[in-house]
Amino acid sequence: MTKQVFTGGHTALALGVCYYPEQWPEQDWADDARQMHALGLHYVRIGEFAWSRLEPRQGEFCFGWLDRAIDTLASAGLKIVLCTPTATPPKWLIDAHPEILPVDPVSGHTRGFGSRRHYDFSSPVFLREASRISAVLAQRYGCDDRIVGWQTDNELCCHDTSHSASNTARENFQAWCERRYGDISSLNTAWGNVFWSMEYSSFASIELPFNAVTETNPAHQLAYRRFASEQVIHFHNSCIEAIRPHAPSQWITHNFIPMKDTQVNCFDLARPLDFVSYDSYPLGRSEFLLGREQPELARRYMRTGHPDYTAYYLDQCRGLKNRGFWIMEQQPGPVNWAPSNPRPAPGMVALWTLEAIAHGADVVSFFRWRQAPFAQEQMHAGLLRSDRSKSDAWREVETVVRVLGALAPLPLPQPVAQVALLADVSAQWVCDIEQQGQKAEAHKVAFQFYSALRGLSVAVDILGVDADLSAYALVVIPSLPIVPDPLLSSLGTIDATVLFGPRCGAKTEEFGIPAQRAPGVLQSFLDIRVNSVETLRPDVREAFSYRGETFHSRLWCEDLEVGSASVEMSYQSGRAGLVRNGRYYYLSTLTDDPFLDRLLENLLTGADVDWRKVPGDVRYLRRGQVCFAFNYGETSTQLAVDDQLEFLLGGRELPGHSASIWLDDRTAD
Ligand code: GAL
Repeated sequence: MTKQVFTGGHTALALGVCYYPEQWPEQDWADDARQMHALGLHYVRIGEFAWSRLEPRQGEFCFGWLDRAIDTLASAGLKIVLCTPTATPPKWLIDAHPEILPVDPVSGHTRGFGSRRHYDFSSPVFLREASRISAVLAQRYGCDDRIVGWQTDNELCCHDTSHSASNTARENFQAWCERRYGDISSLNTAWGNVFWSMEYSSFASIELPFNAVTETNPAHQLAYRRFASEQVIHFHNSCIEAIRPHAPSQWITHNFIPMKDTQVNCFDLARPLDFVSYDSYPLGRSEFLLGREQPELARRYMRTGHPDYTAYYLDQCRGLKNRGFWIMEQQPGPVNWAPSNPRPAPGMVALWTLEAIAHGADVVSFFRWRQAPFAQEQMHAGLLRSDRSKSDAWREVETVVRVLGALAPLPLPQPVAQVALLADVSAQWVCDIEQQGQKAEAHKVAFQFYSALRGLSVAVDILGVDADLSAYALVVIPSLPIVPDPLLSSLGTIDATVLFGPRCGAKTEEFGIPAQRAPGVLQSFLDIRVNSVETLRPDVREAFSYRGETFHSRLWCEDLEVGSASVEMSYQSGRAGLVRNGRYYYLSTLTDDPFLDRLLENLLTGADVDWRKVPGDVRYLRRGQVCFAFNYGETSTQLAVDDQLEFLLGGRELPGHSASIWLDDRTAD
């Protein structure tokens, strides 16, 4: 076994692909492997859902096919990423232990066998079985140097699986409550259970916060979400611990979905991994974001995705461990799971791949090699069609391979940002639990701020609430109702300008109104109190003026009592909308995009951060001297750069749906 140099799982930019040898005739494997290598792919991810083939009956293992697949792929020059198959417990296991199945919190029905992710994070049996199969695989392949690393499970919590209403979930939740609150009267007080006679007399009598007549206590719901998040992390940590001792030189990653969809503290989830991976499906995700609320934008970007939405998740991924990451699954054509599934515009597969690299990815791996002619994902494109002919994405991958060749000799440090945007799953929990008005969702609020910053061509680090903020000039906290103490201290000591969005500081740790009203602990920075909150219909706007211009407030609007803070923006009635004490700003409303642009322009200027407004569909980013520009629009545009510069891809003229890459060391960070 050769000891690999541990650089986070990769030594250079590279491409890969997801492959399921067990789904194809063995006689195709060698040719598949040859074609992968000839295309310029370096990595192949296998084994992900193969439990029923690896262990057809309890304790009876069939490794022959996997050994042969590894031989074939490795002999063709590919490096292998091996997955643990825990996302798909086989039928024999479910038959022997039906209690593994999760229970849907909404309907109360058991979610049965026949698809995937049919396990309950609370199940001790499944925890044991998942650890067992992970260890068995790691014992066999952990010292095989053809295998460079591991992917655990698949997309933890996808398909709304972080929550379950099973009996085991209830028992585990009761035990969790006992550990957290110590005695039942403390829990009753913390949750305010006197309201509506919800008091419990023992931990054993605590219900799950589902299926009551109307809403259950928000504090109860928050506690359940905290518990569920910890439980997912505990499950995942156990799977990692089962692999580590047997795989000392191989890395371990996991392919994440967006943080808001996991409902889990992804910063904690990522902690024991060597690096994180992300599954990038720009079209479907963008359609879910825009489809119903902004149909004209959804139409405009239906073949490209919103220019900032993919990048938002790429930056989220980089921030999870503050280092490079992989795209483990990159959409190569139409998918099968969104409300509509258009073809990407020609050029977009290459653009998305290069954009991932611009934001810090080291490896991009396409999902999947060959379109499956059977089972659930027949309508999902691969690099090959089901008959093994080459799909539209093939040529774009060839283009990317050439570009990576040109980038290979260059140093490629991670993007450097002077702006940090803080994210915490608790913000999403609070707005899911207590909507007050529809549409004011934390992840959409955060995205609006992010998009405004990217439209000003500013690099953004998306960080957790315990991050070191000392290197930033501007810290933006779009939504954080519960402000943890360490963050409060850190915000008090850094020099950055800090912008808080509405609802920040509005809740205590146990989902109550702070003693001094909102923004609670933030009153140590800002001399204000929230008198009341109103939420508005999505089609209502209220005008306010800021530095002589008129903008609009929407959805969520607070009425502030202002002490010593200066009023920076106000409504016609004189009511304050943006206030400031020194370097701390509090924005008490959600607004239209033009206002956020103007506000952030001013804050960036004040914080000495360079910015420039870029045309709507063009985005810039740099990694050291390597500069990238992406055009999500249909029409060509001229980049505002010197044409004497050395272009590695494209030129100053940037056609629609394409990328330019050039070298510029004059302003390299
Ligand atoms: C991902 C998943 C893959 C496949 C793909 C389809 O979420 O990890 O297994 O289902 O979606 O787009």
